Amino acid sequence: MYKTPDNKIILGNWKMNKLASDIQEYFVELEPKDYKVKNTMVGIAVPLPYLYLVQEKFKQMDWLLGSQDVSQFSDSGAYTGEVSVAMLKDFDTSFTLVGHAERRKYFNENNSVFTKKINHLLDNDIRPVLCVGETLEEKNQGRTYQVLDQQLQVLPEKYCENVILAYEPVWAIGTGHMPTDEEISSRLHYIRERMLSICVGSDKIPLLYGGSVNLDNANKLMSIEHVNGLLIGGASLVPLDFIKIIQSI
Ligand code: PGA
Repeated sequence: MYKTPDNKIILGNWKMNKLASDIQEYFVELEPKDYKVKNTMVGIAVPLPYLYLVQEKFKQMDWLLGSQDVSQFSDSGAYTGEVSVAMLKDFDTSFTLVGHAERRKYFNENNSVFTKKINHLLDNDIRPVLCVGETLEEKNQGRTYQVLDQQLQVLPEKYCENVILAYEPVWAIGTGHMPTDEEISSRLHYIRERMLSICVGSDKIPLLYGGSVNLDNANKLMSIEHVNGLLIGGASLVPLDFIKIIQSI
């Protein structure tokens, strides 16, 4: 069987929110607080232009710097608008979201793109946070496990212990709707079993839940079987909420 990771992981995702001045304020609000919590890894995926702005501060706070995307192209060159894995590395980026529902929906990204991104990230020691999850329609059609199977195909066979996996039902993202505890644990159990059959090292992959996590439900979510951490969108935008979540789990 697999070993549960020792550390809990709480990752925020700011999405396309905040300007430089908002980020400065965020840090000011955090200033007097004790934001270090034992045995918990904390990080935020910030908008790409602000990696530089938060880099030093995150280091001081012992938070992991994350990006929300990376180019599928590994070499430098004529790819207007793209940000390479080497550029992320230049800013000591620790993790990058891959396969987020919003990338699937608005940018038509698919498994072939995600596979390239995951491989470039792993080759450069940046942890991909692979996001998977079914839409409401897929859930209602009873296709959740089929969808998860398909989305997990992007995991590399060779080594994958540096991947982080986030189960985010699309219908739970930003909606206030939540799966039941039983649904979360059975989906994560299924994901773990599938990963074990795909790649070496998958017993060490932490499993996160994401979708409408907030201060009221975070602690309970962390107590669900197979949940090693949380991926938090909306509630990570409010510094004191995010801190309270970290402290509550
Ligand atoms: P939410 O977003 O916490 O606002 O539901 C989660 C996510 O998209 O990662």
